[in-house]
Parts: sequence; C-alpha cells; structure tokens
Amino acid sequence: VHLLAGIDIGGTKCAVSLGLARKDGIDILAKERFATPSSPELALLRFEETLKQLLQGLEGANGEGKPVLAGIGISCGGPLDSKKGLILSPPNLPGWDRIDVVGYFTERFEVPAGLQNDANACAVAEWKWGAGQGLDNVIFLTFGTGMGSGLILNGRLYSGTNDMAGEVGHLRIEDEGPIGYGKEGSFEGFCSGGGIAQLAQGKAIIAHVKGEHPAYCPQPSDLAAVTAERVGLAAQQGDPLAIEVFRLVGRKLGKGLSVLIDLLNPQLIIIGSIYGRQQALLDETLYDVLKAETLSHSLEVCRIVPAALGEQIGDYASLSVAAYQLEQQREGY
Ligand code: BGC
Ligand code: NA
Repeated sequence: VHLLAGIDIGGTKCAVSLGLARKDGIDILAKERFATPSSPELALLRFEETLKQLLQGLEGANGEGKPVLAGIGISCGGPLDSKKGLILSPPNLPGWDRIDVVGYFTERFEVPAGLQNDANACAVAEWKWGAGQGLDNVIFLTFGTGMGSGLILNGRLYSGTNDMAGEVGHLRIEDEGPIGYGKEGSFEGFCSGGGIAQLAQGKAIIAHVKGEHPAYCPQPSDLAAVTAERVGLAAQQGDPLAIEVFRLVGRKLGKGLSVLIDLLNPQLIIIGSIYGRQQALLDETLYDVLKAETLSHSLEVCRIVPAALGEQIGDYASLSVAAYQLEQQREGY
C-alpha cells in the first residue's frame, strides 16, 4: 500500500486528491475541488497548499503520526511533454506556457512526480478500473471543457511520438463552425463546453431578433453568461432551443466518432463529462450519423458508453499517473 497524491488540472476545474494504492485498485481517501486559478503561479501555490492540508487532515484522522506520501501524479490537457514534465500551452489553459509542474512538486514534496495528458490518464483509469476492463481496443473521449482522447490500442496506451496522439479536438469536422483548439469547425469547436456555449449563443441571438426569449438566455444581456451547464439544465427542463443545440452537437459527435471508428476499429468508446449528463439527448442524433457515416463492420463491434467512474474519473486518472510513476520500469505511460 502506498499513499499517492493526484492533481487534476482542467480548463474549468481543478482537483487535488489523496488515494491509497492497493494491488488491484486505488481507494480515494480525500479530495478537494476548486475553480481553475487565473494563473499557473496561483494554481501551483493552491495545489501545494491543498495537498499539505489534505495530508494534515489524514494525520489527524488515523492518529498514527505523519502519513508518508509515496508519489504525485498530475494530469492535464495537452500539448505537454511527459518526459520533461512540462505543460506546453494547452488551448484551454491560457498563460500556461512551459510550466515545469513535475519539477515544482518533486522539489517541494521530495517524492517522484509524473505528468500525463488528462485524456490518456482517464483512458488508463477506465481501462483498469472502469468500463474498459479486460478490453484491448478502447478509446476514451473527455468531452468537457476541451475535447481530447486517450487511445488504448492492442492492449496498451498509444501516446504517439511526442505525447500528441489522440489530440482529436484539433480534427476538422466542418469548414465553418464554433472555434475550439484555435480552429473553426473543429471537433473541439462543436463538442466541448465552450463549443456548446458558442452554438447556444448563436441560436439565442437569432431568437432575440425574432422577439423570442429562450430559457437559457432570455435577454441579449444574458449572452455572456451562457454556459454549457446552463444550456444542459434548460434542455433537461424541455427548452426547445437548448434541445436543438444538443441534437446538433450529437450529430457533430457522430461525425467525429465515425472518423475514429473507421481509423481505429475500437471495441469500446467511453465518453466523459458532458456525455454522461446528456446521453439520452445526444444519442437521439448521434446514432443516425454513425449509421450513415461509419463502415458497418466496424460499427457493429463498437459500443459507446459514458464513463463508469463518473464524476470521480479525474481523481482516479491523476492517481493512476502517480501509481505508474512509482513503477516506471513497467510498460504503460
Ligand atoms: C487538449 C487535450 C485534452 C483535452 C481535454 C484539449 O483542448 O488539447 O490534450 O486532452 O482538451 O482536456
Ligand atoms: Na491524449
């Protein structure tokens, strides 16, 4: 048993967690979540303080003195360099340019630390402990603030030549459309929190011109406050315009998935975050597109499911990076 720390750096939210690694899994002991701080400097300080507090809390809880931390895992959106431990300006973390996160934590906590792409780490977590157990060809898609993927191919993680494999958010789905990953009409442009907000804003502007007051954005002055979360709630309450947005996003999700299925012939595609919350709505249009666009022999063998680790996936993901860091000689990351 080893005490591990996980740091999950997202475009919207961050989390610090503590877990106990056993032979066949990880138990999450403590966790703290907060909005992503406005600069990398502030974020690093917040991670450091939070981790110290969580460790102190543990000390009080088991009454056995100071808990001994064995390793730290950090998962973050790419581009990043896992060998050098550097975050290299991810599209959803403006200002995070060449940030040496691994150096920062090894210095302060004097334990091994590792960095991995968030989607890769989620893919491994779902593969080891979630929906992908025992399967050889599994794709994980984040579908949160950003759109990224982790590819388990022939029974191991495929990370590419320099950690850039699976950057599916950058794929172009349409010539025009919302901007994601710095590119108009990209997979991330349509299928991400930011993309959903952009689509919903576009539809709201047209509705306002027609004198309508959509539930997620009744007035033009509400435009800036439109978030994917807000549109999602409105859709669940039956707002027709919000439902229209998710039907459109479901079709674009189908386009992106068709490319991945034709290219990689997976057994299972696991989709996180927004898919878990809006599956019923997205599926209404997703499968029509898949049937029309994908090779049937590939589609036949591929199942699409939400993440089994649910909202805790980010913690398992960063903790799995820490676990692998400890047994570096083994194949894996
Ligand atoms: C990043 C990916 C990441 C995804 C999810 C994308 O914008 O470039 O590396 O996996 O967001 O955070
Ligand atoms: Na990836």
